[in-house]
Amino acid sequence: MAKAIADAFPHIKSTVLDLPHVIAGLQGTHNLAFLAGDMFEAIPPANAILLKGILHDWNHEDCVRILKRCKEAIPRKEEGGKVMIIEMVIEEDQMDKDSYEVQLYSDMMMMVLQSGQERNQMEWEKIFFAAGFSTYKITPAFEDRSLIELYP
Ligand SMILES: C[S@@+](CC[C@H](N)C(=O)[O-])C[C@H]1O[C@@H](n2cnc3c(N)ncnc32)[C@H](O)[C@@H]1O
Repeated sequence: MAKAIADAFPHIKSTVLDLPHVIAGLQGTHNLAFLAGDMFEAIPPANAILLKGILHDWNHEDCVRILKRCKEAIPRKEEGGKVMIIEMVIEEDQMDKDSYEVQLYSDMMMMVLQSGQERNQMEWEKIFFAAGFSTYKITPAFEDRSLIELYP
């Protein structure tokens, strides 16, 4: 995804942060860098941060820790700082039966494999506010997943 963004928007500089063994050997380009690190320790400064399929791997407390590191890394809301999250938002009432079943299946997978979970809006909101963010906006965007924009 970072490569697609870097190719589509050559003026945007992107950095992919991941664990050392994942980043090892990856070559960057003029606008795409790979950085080995631990998101629980520090996230490099950025105008915006994209977390795609990250938070559903983790429990409430760990999500709050990750988002606190994100908040430290971005500018204030007035200066354009935001975190973009691509995750499921479980909404039984507003989904067709098949999409809802996919979400429940993924929820079970996250619990069994990762100690994580899929979340409804209230569960996400508790995490966002506990991490110190002031507002958020959810846009259903990708069939069973949503874009969540989170502002400090
Ligand atoms: C489920 S994958 C999501 C990857 C990608 N964003 C996607 O949507 O396909 C989670 C990623 O988080 C990385 N990761 C796990 N723990 C991490 C940590 N402490 N610091 C940085 N990255 C971590 C994993 O190595 C993995 O690449």
